[in-house]
Amino acid sequence: MSDILTLLVLGTVLAALLLLGWWLLIASEGVYLGRWMVIFLYDRFAHKYDDVKHYHREYEEMYIAKPLMDAIAPQVDPMVLDVATGTGRVPLALARHQNFKGHTIGVDLSRKMLHHATENIYPYESATFMWCPAETLPFPDNTFDIVTCLEALEFMSNPTSVVKEMVRVLRPSGLLLTSQRVNTKLMPGKTWTSQQLQEVLKESGIVEAKAQIWQVDYRKVWGRKAGATFSKGVVPLESILCCPRCGKDKFMHPDDGSWLCEHCKGRAMVSTDGVFELYPLY
Ligand SMILES: C[S@@+](CC[C@H](N)C(=O)[O-])C[C@H]1O[C@@H](n2cnc3c(N)ncnc32)[C@H](O)[C@@H]1O
Repeated sequence: MSDILTLLVLGTVLAALLLLGWWLLIASEGVYLGRWMVIFLYDRFAHKYDDVKHYHREYEEMYIAKPLMDAIAPQVDPMVLDVATGTGRVPLALARHQNFKGHTIGVDLSRKMLHHATENIYPYESATFMWCPAETLPFPDNTFDIVTCLEALEFMSNPTSVVKEMVRVLRPSGLLLTSQRVNTKLMPGKTWTSQQLQEVLKESGIVEAKAQIWQVDYRKVWGRKAGATFSKGVVPLESILCCPRCGKDKFMHPDDGSWLCEHCKGRAMVSTDGVFELYPLY
């Protein structure tokens, strides 16, 4: 083989590898490499996330908080769970809404995204952030008035089980808000068609599901959990937090900044930035 041909082959192989690397790590955000890679990348780029996303706080309030509050009116004090909260988009939008008197728990598996969430939410006190996976939420069945999960299901290894887990902790007649990715070119096989999404929601116990145009890449998807219950309003964390290790609702808050499971003696720390570090307990 001549030198030029060898160089051409090597150049093509290198370009193909670079393209593959770009697609696996940047374009599809690690989703084909598993959960650990997705979280590694979110941790790695957490400091740039808000700049890249360019969220306008007024728009977030108008297009996320207001429709949520309108949907549950006249209630103003919901317990909200935001799954894969990232840098706290939903907790912040709700905190800024003038009528919101509820509390939002934001969970995410990227510890660094959560750190930025705690900075973004300041000085509001209507949110708590917890480091834990969406797949196993440390709360009893039928707990929350609202469960949200925006721009995240396509990054989960098993999004169907995450939807089921979210519906488990939503109270009957509670409100679910999630999103459907519509720009799917770069993530084949990782996004749902509208029909697939409808089926997953129906099988999970969601009724009245409807999609709504929202952003270039996403639709908002609304639904309610079948059944009927009344809201208890804001409840103390002690009454709803379960031990992530043994699942018992015997997680207590002693005076030393940690949470202790009376059953299995597992201990979770509340970090200096206020994040509940539940993940090491799983
Ligand atoms: C595109 S961001 C969306 C964040 C936020 N919901 C928003 O709309 O700005 C996706 C988030 O999902 C989180 N995530 C991905 N897989 C997760 C999992 N299995 N459990 C919890 N969080 C996860 C990532 O850490 C990241 O913060």
